[in-house]
Amino acid sequence: MRHDPPVVLITGASSAIGAAVARRYAADGWELLLWHRSGGQLVRDLEAELEALGARRSWTQVDFKDAPAVERAVEPLRQARVDALVNNAGGYEALQHFSTLGHAEVMESLAVNFTAPFLLASAVFEGMAGRGAGRMVNISSVAAKYGGSAQSMHYGCAKRALEGITRTLAREGASSGVLVNTVRPGVIDTGFHTRLGRDMAVRTELIPLGRMGTPEEVAEVVHFLGSFRNTYVTGQTIAVSGGE
Ligand SMILES: NC(=O)c1ccc[n+]([C@@H]2O[C@H](COP(=O)([O-])OP(=O)(O)OC[C@H]3O[C@@H](n4cnc5c(N)ncnc54)[C@H](OP(=O)(O)O)[C@@H]3O)[C@@H](O)[C@H]2O)c1
Repeated sequence: MRHDPPVVLITGASSAIGAAVARRYAADGWELLLWHRSGGQLVRDLEAELEALGARRSWTQVDFKDAPAVERAVEPLRQARVDALVNNAGGYEALQHFSTLGHAEVMESLAVNFTAPFLLASAVFEGMAGRGAGRMVNISSVAAKYGGSAQSMHYGCAKRALEGITRTLAREGASSGVLVNTVRPGVIDTGFHTRLGRDMAVRTELIPLGRMGTPEEVAEVVHFLGSFRNTYVTGQTIAVSGGE
């Protein structure tokens, strides 16, 4: 039997997509375990909104590049109640041609986009399976589909590794009610692109629907797959990408 309200852990709650996902679960009455790295205005705004809504929530600050800190933060989750996990934190610090990347940069990309999500998923999986119910959504990218550009190969490869978690845990969890899926956002209108100084007009022309997506459009799909509304979709990769 599930307790009420169900609990969702969302990483990267300080991002536009993560905050939209948090709002969507909060609107549905879930308790939120919100992870972020560096705080900032998005966190303050989200916290104020959730306070106004009366949402049950807690915040955890951890840098996924800090391996001991990740292990310390993950350990208590083995005994905690987590009904859904949204592995949303991810990205890359800079566009950098693959030929200029060293071991450290490649490992950092894996640490953020793969290793921490792997440890989180592993920590909460047994509890979900033991209770006979759980949902996970791994936020990948269309970069995993296309391999990323020469400047984002490290990111595309790390997101591919992330998608491997979905593959294995969907099979492992199927007999115990744990449904695991991947969402691949396309070009979504967030700080992700503006920080990298990209010309979004040129990029947007490649999108069949002719515009960038919104964080809310991603959040709606994540919430469907990652809540108990979803009863029969597992092991799938869903692109929210305007047709790309
Ligand atoms: N926007 C897009 O077009 C797009 C497309 C495909 C996939 N995605 C994926 O969607 C997810 C959310 O991205 P976004 O566009 O909303 O924006 P974003 O602003 O790039 O968000 C990245 C999030 O990941 C967190 N993060 C980054 N490095 C971290 C680290 N070392 N340790 C812990 N957390 C870290 C950030 O935390 P802090 O802000 O607190 O540092 C932030 O919450 C990411 O996984 C991204 O790869 C986005």
